This record gives sequence, structure tokens and C-alpha cells, in this order.
Amino acid sequence: MNILVTGAAGFLGRRLIEALLQRGSLTDRAGKSRPIGQIVAFDMVELTGIDDPRVKVVYGDIADPEVVQRLIDANTDSIFHLAAVVSSQAEGDFELGMRINFTATQAMLEHIRKLGTRPKWVMTSSVAVFGGELPERVGDDHVWSPKSSYGTQKAMSDLLLADYSRRAYVDGRSLRMPTIVVRPGKPNMAASSFASGIIREPLNGEQSVCPVPLDTRLWLMSPAQAIGNLIHGHELSAEQLTQGRVINMPGLSITVEQMIEALRQTAGAEVAGRIRMERNPAIERIVGSWPGNFYATYSQDLGFTADENFTDVIEQYRNEYLPG
Ligand SMILES: NC(=O)c1ccc[n+]([C@@H]2O[C@H](COP(=O)([O-])OP(=O)(O)OC[C@H]3O[C@@H](n4cnc5c(N)ncnc54)[C@H](O)[C@@H]3O)[C@@H](O)[C@H]2O)c1
Repeated sequence: MNILVTGAAGFLGRRLIEALLQRGSLTDRAGKSRPIGQIVAFDMVELTGIDDPRVKVVYGDIADPEVVQRLIDANTDSIFHLAAVVSSQAEGDFELGMRINFTATQAMLEHIRKLGTRPKWVMTSSVAVFGGELPERVGDDHVWSPKSSYGTQKAMSDLLLADYSRRAYVDGRSLRMPTIVVRPGKPNMAASSFASGIIREPLNGEQSVCPVPLDTRLWLMSPAQAIGNLIHGHELSAEQLTQGRVINMPGLSITVEQMIEALRQTAGAEVAGRIRMERNPAIERIVGSWPGNFYATYSQDLGFTADENFTDVIEQYRNEYLPG
């Protein structure tokens, strides 16, 4: 199998590549399990620390049509398209968001259509496609109504992928990911960055700011679940996708207050005391427009999985990044 991973140096991309290397094989579009021969790890920033002869690191801008022509050819069996600019960045720079989050996806799909090879394609959409008046729990048939440019770009890509798949130009699956926590490293420009920050910074001995009210409800997933679900999404056959190619992932529905309480229980009051409440209207507006709870019936029927409790999610981060 020849695999392309875009956004390879990112939070999920790197983990996905590590998981694919460890797994060693994937199911091809004909339903046959085949060893992974090569992973083209594509990003505009350096992917370091993965030393495996099956990985070929390629740099460039995914929105450059010449790059797309070179990246995907008749030998490309599967594509995990993760490259994107995150929510606040896409809100702050409309042209950048459109170029990376939508136009590049369209150009890749169009190149694939012309190749005529119908590769498998997994991409990461977002709960940000929903917004406006929301029920307490969003169903799979809820109308998409994004209230951010990021959500709009993800929704447009979802629609396009669904139609390219319907026309059998590609064998696509778009996974609507919850907010993934706990993300290691520094805060980023995602509006949801605080959801990791209020756990990560206090555990690292640092102060953290929570920009949204305590009763804000979030739909979350741990990195381990996210990677497992991305691979599961790839492995499903086209015949199993009876209710479409765009799939709301299962998740963990939790308020910010419950997250902080879980931190207090696992790491103590002093650690949880490192969080300062300071509301930020711009972040509140974006995050407040996202649903905090889903039924996600279709994805559960397809065998996608969710974290059972937030304490385990915190422990996952501690075991991986703060051993001892
Ligand atoms: N992390 C989450 O909470 C979350 C939630 C829902 C959806 N998603 C989606 O999952 C995907 C991966 O998210 P992540 O958290 O790993 O993000 P990330 O920001 O860590 O990784 C994205 C990667 O894309 C790369 N990239 C950006 N512009 C590029 C360009 N022009 N050309 C090539 N590469 C480019 C970046 O360099 C980065 O390494 C994204 O599509 C994101 O929208 C993430």
C-alpha cells in the first residue's frame, strides 16, 4: 500500500503515521489487506523523529496545484488528508482558510478524478459545521449551519467529498472529529485550544486561562481514540457506508467545570487552582456555536468508539508526556 498523509507533522498526522507504521498493513479499495510499502509524509513544516525506511518526507504547500500533481499518482492507494489551518486562524485570515481548507481539497479531489484511480480517502472534518439554534443533543440528520469560516470550509469539503464519492471518483470518508484533548506542546490558534491548555498547563506547573464560562459543554475525544477512529474509518468498506460518507464521530460530552473537577480529582487542588477564569468574547462566540453533545448513532453502528471518562483522558496525557 502506498499512503499519502497530509498535515504529517501536525498533532494528529505524526501520531497517525506512527500508528500506521506499527500496524504494518491496511485494507485496499478491493478489500484486501496489504502491507504498507510507503507513507509519503507531506507537510509544510519539518517532520522529525520518525526514522523508518517506509516513510518518505515531502515538504510543500498543499494549495500549490503543481505539488498536488506530484504528490498523488496512479500508485497512491490511500490518502489521509489532515492538512488544515485551525479555526481562529481561518477566522482571522479568510483567504488563507479558503485556500488551505477548501481550495486545496477541491484541487486534490479534481486531480484524483482525472487520474481515474479511485483511491481511498479519509479526511478530518469538524463539529464546527454545526451552529445556530442547536438541540441539547445533535442528531445525525441535523442541518449543517456553520457560524465560522473554518466550519464553512469544512462543510463545503464534506459536501464535495460526498459527491465525488457518489460519482465513484474517490472512495471517501469524512470524519467529523470532536475537539481532541489533551494536545501536547504550546497553545495553538484553534478556538478550542484552551480545552487542552486548562489540563496541560496546570499539569506542567504553569498557569492557564479559561476563556469560556464553566457551564460550556464540549464534545471531546482523546488523541488515542482519534487515531484509532481514523484508521477504522479507512478500513470500512464502501458497502458499509450506507448512510453516507460524512460521519459524526462519537465523543465524550462534558462541561468545562467537569473537566476541571476531573483534573482536581486526579492531580489535586493545587494543580486545578492554576486555572484563571477570564472570558474572551471572540473564543466564546466560536466555541459557543459548536454542539456539546451528539447522538452519533451512525458512527457507533459502524464501530467507531469514544472515551468513557475524562479522567482516563487526563491519565493518557500524563502517562505519555509526564512519566513519573
Ligand atoms: N485537533 C483537533 O481538536 C481537531 C478537531 C477537529 C478536526 N481537526 C482536524 O484534524 C486535522 C489535523 O488537526 P491537527 O490538530 O493535527 O492540526 P495541526 O495544526 O497540528 O496539523 C495540521 C498540519 O497541517 C499543516 N499545514 C497547514 N497548512 C499547510 C499547507 N498549506 N501545506 C501543507 N501542510 C499544511 C501544518 O503545518 C500542520 O502540521 C485538521 O484537518 C483539523 O482541522 C482537528
